Amino acid sequence: MTLSLGFFHRHRSGALMSRVLNDVNTMQEGVANVITGVMREGVTALALLGVVFYRNWQLAILAFLAIPLTVYPARTIGKRIKRLSGRSLEKLGDISKILQETFSGIKVIKAFGLEPRVVAEFNAVNREFYGFVRRTIKYTSLSSPVMEVITSLGIAAVIWFGGTLVMRGAMTAPEFFSFIAAMVMLYTPVRKLLSSYNVLQRSLGAAERVFEILDEEPEIRDLPTAVALDTAQGEVRFEGVSFSYQDEYVVRNINLEARKGEVVALVGPSGSGKTTLVSLITRFYDVSEGKVLIDGIDVRSIRTRDLLRQISLVDQETTLFNDTVANNIRFGRPDATDEEVEAVARAAFAHDFIMEMPQGYATCIGDRGVRLSGGQRKRICIARAILKDSPILILDEATSALDTESEQMVQQAINNLMANRTTFVIAHRLSTILHADRIVVLEKGEIVEQGTHRQLLEAGGLYRKLYEMQFDAQQRQGSGDPCPARE
Ligand SMILES: Nc1ncnc2c1ncn2[C@@H]1O[C@H](COP(=O)(O)OP(=O)(O)O)[C@@H](O)[C@H]1O
Ligand SMILES: [Mg+2]
Repeated sequence: MTLSLGFFHRHRSGALMSRVLNDVNTMQEGVANVITGVMREGVTALALLGVVFYRNWQLAILAFLAIPLTVYPARTIGKRIKRLSGRSLEKLGDISKILQETFSGIKVIKAFGLEPRVVAEFNAVNREFYGFVRRTIKYTSLSSPVMEVITSLGIAAVIWFGGTLVMRGAMTAPEFFSFIAAMVMLYTPVRKLLSSYNVLQRSLGAAERVFEILDEEPEIRDLPTAVALDTAQGEVRFEGVSFSYQDEYVVRNINLEARKGEVVALVGPSGSGKTTLVSLITRFYDVSEGKVLIDGIDVRSIRTRDLLRQISLVDQETTLFNDTVANNIRFGRPDATDEEVEAVARAAFAHDFIMEMPQGYATCIGDRGVRLSGGQRKRICIARAILKDSPILILDEATSALDTESEQMVQQAINNLMANRTTFVIAHRLSTILHADRIVVLEKGEIVEQGTHRQLLEAGGLYRKLYEMQFDAQQRQGSGDPCPARE
């Protein structure tokens, strides 16, 4: 949760889930096994070692001459197991990634008849996983015969040398047999210790992957000098801002100011950097050059918690959780009363349809809100944003993907939401941004035009071109002017 959005874009959620579940589990098995094994078997082995050395230390040294010979194969096998463990967990991550994407995208898979492809993809990864597991088992099983051969060499040497000692009368027969008995009894704990060693290697392979995540430095974090910000006025300024995801600039040298309560619209072709630009305000990403300021304070020097309290974001995705309607709205402010929840639902034109649901505000809306229509989901998201009551509002394609009827409802809801807030609005349909205080036209990450609707139309640049394209399209559908003038 402390890692930045960029981290989550780089890693697939299925793979992350697998790391949290499978890798941690593998690591934990090792810890439990090794601690109990080393305690119990280690004590037994030490006691028996004492007996052996007490009986005849020269003979004991001879018996343990074989031990250094075991170090090399044990270490080699251990290393292999550790590497294989990491690789097989990686594959397990790939498997859960495929599963996660398959189940959440099941509708598209069915619609396009992609089942055989998904199955083939799954089988391929699963087979690779099987390969790694098999090799792990091979090395684990290999380790005991190797050790047995080496240790039996030691025991053979002891019987041969001890036998001659007894025959020469240098050692009594009972002494010799008690020595041999202790040696043989040593065998079990040593073997168990060795298998603990292999389990330890396996869990170390998992631990490396777990700590890779734990040691990940959050790209976005609070400076020690970060300042608190209670309630901002809501003035936002971009000063010479450039940003790149990898090496190419996606937004370049942006200078832009939105005064308190102003509505600034961002317009431009798809991929021109509109979403990227607004995500610099919320610090989903940090600027590469320049500054973004709220009330004259650089966002990077505001405590993240305080910064996010100043901003509401409504975008194309309507993320709802499988919970009641009321709780989904309350995400905006968890301590809101029932009356407050109802008030914002009314403002978002959601109250009426909520009351028609079986249990009203207590109705569970199902996984990702599948039981609601697109426009209804959106209005719940807007209610949530109204409840949050933050001075800055970002609307990123909030009304796209809606049919005309729900769009009108949503637009009215949005108008309520925009009241008295500094708003950045991104919309494809230019009709939604006609009345913005300022329209900023972006192309390939740069501001190419700025002004009001009238000014930009007169200027005859990119904005006019975009406007006429929509106008033409609408006329062909016979619905007239896409942007009826303000009544
Ligand atoms: N997470 C990301 N990683 C790398 N490149 C990205 C990422 N998000 C967007 N881009 C790229 O940045 C450019 C601008 O994208 P975006 O800001 O989403 O455009 P818009 O919202 O104007 O359609 C595009 O070329 C897009 O491919
Ligand atoms: Mg976008």
